[in-house]
Formats: sequence, structure tokens, C-alpha cells
Amino acid sequence: MPLDSMLTMMRHAKQGGYGLGYFEAWDAYSMEAVLEVAEEESSPIILGFGGMMLDSEWLDASGVELLGAIGSHYARKSRVPVSLILNEAQTLEQTLQGIDSGFNVVMLDTSAWEWDRAVEAVSELAKIAHERGVTVEAELGRLPDATTEGIDDTTAFLTDPSDAQSFIELTGADCLAVSIGNVHLLTAHDAPVNMNHLRAIHERVSIPLVIHGGTSFPAASVAEAIQYGVAKFNVGTTLKKTFTEAIRCEVADWSPNVDVHEILGSHKERDLMVVGKRAMKERVRELLCLYGSNGRA
Ligand code: 13P
Repeated sequence: MPLDSMLTMMRHAKQGGYGLGYFEAWDAYSMEAVLEVAEEESSPIILGFGGMMLDSEWLDASGVELLGAIGSHYARKSRVPVSLILNEAQTLEQTLQGIDSGFNVVMLDTSAWEWDRAVEAVSELAKIAHERGVTVEAELGRLPDATTEGIDDTTAFLTDPSDAQSFIELTGADCLAVSIGNVHLLTAHDAPVNMNHLRAIHERVSIPLVIHGGTSFPAASVAEAIQYGVAKFNVGTTLKKTFTEAIRCEVADWSPNVDVHEILGSHKERDLMVVGKRAMKERVRELLCLYGSNGRA
């Protein structure tokens, strides 16, 4: 299937009163997990990879190209509507490389940049991306990160509703990730999200909104978030946690004579990555159903 425009998919989601899931993959096994669930649940899906946790030199060498090739392969064979995002790229050059490598959505993480620099880079990106039919996600405001010591909110700030309106007008971005108390990388408890703040942004910004930090976004607030303009939830940490925990349990059962050909790279039932993938699929299914995109393909 050819790639679908994420903006169009988001508009459908808005009309249908559901959210899209972007379940961040890191390799072919994890991307297969996401796509298989989307097909089993007849759900539109956002496939993709994120740049935030990756080595920048690796990305610049040919990492973006490799990720684009893997993503394009799976997107092409999808039986449900699909967009392919390069999420949280670290530089403008990486997003441009992403467009050349087959991603039809790009997101440059400017959340820590000064206003003028961010406006300039996202405007330039939007101009180039739109000429190529590619959607641009921007972010304004900065999420706190969860650490082993707790939540580090020293540099975090909420999205200012009127700044969000100006930012969109100045840059031409197609959708906007917002900071409303949501937290990146948090698994210990739900994030303290502020739905009144989300509503205030929604009153000023008509383009679709995006929630990052999907792992700790409270399930009980999902429906309200969709009502206030959120069309996509980004999920990462819980997927890797689920994947690695399944592998940890499997490894505990190993005998010293374990067949290494069976457990590494075989793609059979006992392949460690298949063990992780099976567990990850159920977590993706749970969240995809929570967002209500099942049965919407
Ligand atoms: P979590 O890892 O907190 O789910 O956040 C993922 C994310 O926001 C990717 O953009």
C-alpha cells in the first residue's frame, strides 16, 4: 500500500473521535510487532523510528537511510493505512535525509532551542517538506524526563497557548506536540497532566495536537484529550520495557547448551527477539484499543 498522508489520517481521526498510535520501533522485529497488531485490529497506524535515543554520528553516517529503508519496506506491505515518521530528529539535516530516505512525516526536536532558531529551522523544513508532500510535526514547550531519581523538570515548561498559535502561523507546521504535564520515559506512575491547559491550547490552535510521553499518559484522560484536539499519541518506553522483560524471563530458563542458532536471528518461536516481539504486540494492542483506532482502517 502507498503511504498515506499523516495529516489526512489525523483529520479522519479527529472526525471519528479516536486517536492514532505511534508506537516507536527500533528495529525490524519491533516494527513488525506494530504493523501486525494494526493489521489484526484493522487499525490505521503511524510506523516509524525516533532519533532522540540514537547515536547522532551513527544517524548521520547512514543510520537515517537504513531506518528509512526498513520502514519503507514494512509500510509498503501494509494492509492498513500507514504513515512513516522520522520522529525527534536532532538536526535539520537528519530530517532532510529522512525525506530522501522515504519518511513521509518528519519531526525536528526543537523543544530545547531558542524561539528564533526553532522558527527558522521548522519554517525551512516545512517549506521543503511540503514541496515533497511530506507532513511536518513540530513541538513547542518542553517535557520533563523521568530519571532513576524521579522527574527532572528543571528545564521543562508548558506550551504557552498564544505562543503555540504564533509558532504555527510562522512555521507552517502541520501538527503540534504539546507539553501539558506529560512526561517522557516515565513508567512508575501516571503523569500529572493538566487538561485545562490542553483545552486552552486547543482553543487557540486548530491543527491536530500530539501527545509525547504516551507511556505515562493517564488512560482515564485519553478520551478527553481526543476531545481537545489530540489526534496522535507517541509511545516508546513501555514497549521497550515489555520487550526486554519478556527476554529477561526467557533467558532465566536457559541451559548452558542452548541452541544459539535457534535463539538468535532464527525468526522462530524461541528467537529472543520474537519472544520480545510477542509480548510487545499485546502492549501495542492494549493501547491501540484505548485510543480507539481499532476497526477504523
Ligand atoms: P515515552 O517513552 O514516555 O512513551 O515517550 C515516547 C515519545 O514521546 C516518543 O516521541
